[in-house]
Amino acid sequence: MKSLFVLFFLFSWLVTGIGCRQDTGGDRPEQRRGVTGGDGGKDDPGGYWQVRVDSLTALVRALTPGLGEFMVQLKYHHDRLAEAVSAKDFERSAYEIDELKETAEKIQLLRITNEKLQEPFPVFYQKYLQAPLESLAASAQQKDLRALKTNLEALTSNCNSCHHENNVAFMHISNTSP
Ligand code: HEC
Repeated sequence: MKSLFVLFFLFSWLVTGIGCRQDTGGDRPEQRRGVTGGDGGKDDPGGYWQVRVDSLTALVRALTPGLGEFMVQLKYHHDRLAEAVSAKDFERSAYEIDELKETAEKIQLLRITNEKLQEPFPVFYQKYLQAPLESLAASAQQKDLRALKTNLEALTSNCNSCHHENNVAFMHISNTSP
């Protein structure tokens, strides 16, 4: 009696499970075809997982910011850093330097690219951003205002060098905050 109940439970779970699969199979006709059409190979008989993976991949792509959006973030933190340096605010400077690093790391982690970039972003990160960001962090920690100013100038100038090298020379970053 007990095992019959378990069997019944399993059966109804399977049936509702299959029902759910079809419900979440996607709205577009080609996705629906994947669910019922059997083009997913022998490990994925209904093509169900392939359809899910494809639609999740498309979703991740749609949600991933473009290079320009990350650049706007870099610009924001660059300008806040310039303000903090001229206000001799070392704590705020250290914070903004960290945000600049995190933003650049995200571009690398997500492998952001676009048609203007001549090489992958990490190549330019090493060439233009890594050294000035490290020196900036050290200067903020040592509360060395003169070094902070010099390294900020180096950073700004490197932003512009990279813009020159990647077809956006017109995107001129100025050293003072707006
Ligand atoms: C890889 C080299 C590179 C480096 C380093 C770089 N940029 Fe950029 N930047 C680009 C490219 C390429 C674009 C054009 C993006 C696009 O096509 O949307 C851009 C665009 C921009 C834009 C315009 C964004 C928009 O959509 O309005 C700003 C602002 C900007 N960068 C700021 C900075 C700042 C500030 C730094 C330095 C902290 C910096 N960039 C460092 C390559 C770089």
